[in-house]
Amino acid sequence: MDDVLNLFRKRRSIRRYLDRDVPAGVVREILRESCLAPSAMNRQPWRFSVVANRPAIRRLSDESKKNLLAELEANPASPLDRYGDLLRNPAFNVFYDAPCVVYVCGPREMKSVQADCALAVSYFMLAAAARGLGTCWVALGADVRDPALLAQLGITPELRIVAPVTLGYPESVPEPPARSEPVILGFLR
Ligand SMILES: Cc1cc2nc3c(=O)[nH]c(=O)nc-3n(C[C@H](O)[C@H](O)[C@H](O)COP(=O)(O)O)c2cc1C
Repeated sequence: MDDVLNLFRKRRSIRRYLDRDVPAGVVREILRESCLAPSAMNRQPWRFSVVANRPAIRRLSDESKKNLLAELEANPASPLDRYGDLLRNPAFNVFYDAPCVVYVCGPREMKSVQADCALAVSYFMLAAAARGLGTCWVALGADVRDPALLAQLGITPELRIVAPVTLGYPESVPEPPARSEPVILGFLR
């Protein structure tokens, strides 16, 4: 396995996947490693819902697109506007035809839920990259509101989706997008 600094450099958001399933045992290992992330007061509030079924992933993509488009129609000045054409394209799968999507969720009312879950997502991405697997955090896939779909995912009303993350074997790995130098506001010594 790569050392951690190599993984930092190697990990990319993957938007093209091979038609190859991720073994359930590998998904479970990655989830166990995601739980090594730090969390406020070690509460470990993250919960995971795994969808490894392509038609179900497509339904979830369509559900999120529908809700985002409704939001855009209600508020045409929304920043979602830049995704309008993409969201209206019936062929567009927000999850890029990945074979697996993991919804990372946590208690709706917990103050640290976003930070805690985002840290678990970071660990998830690096644990996946260490195995040659690709991931992408897909905010466009988070707008699941249909109670029947949420129930199928095991996401009860007291939970909120923080991050849907794709998982699969990359068909291709893009060049790293440019990174800015750190903006250091101060360095008191
Ligand atoms: C909170 C968050 C939301 C994101 N949502 C999307 C998304 O909806 N669709 C997508 O293709 N990529 C999404 N990304 C991936 C970013 O576009 C990507 O991380 C960024 O361009 C840097 O590329 P890299 O991950 O390969 O370093 C998201 C990333 C984060 C952290």
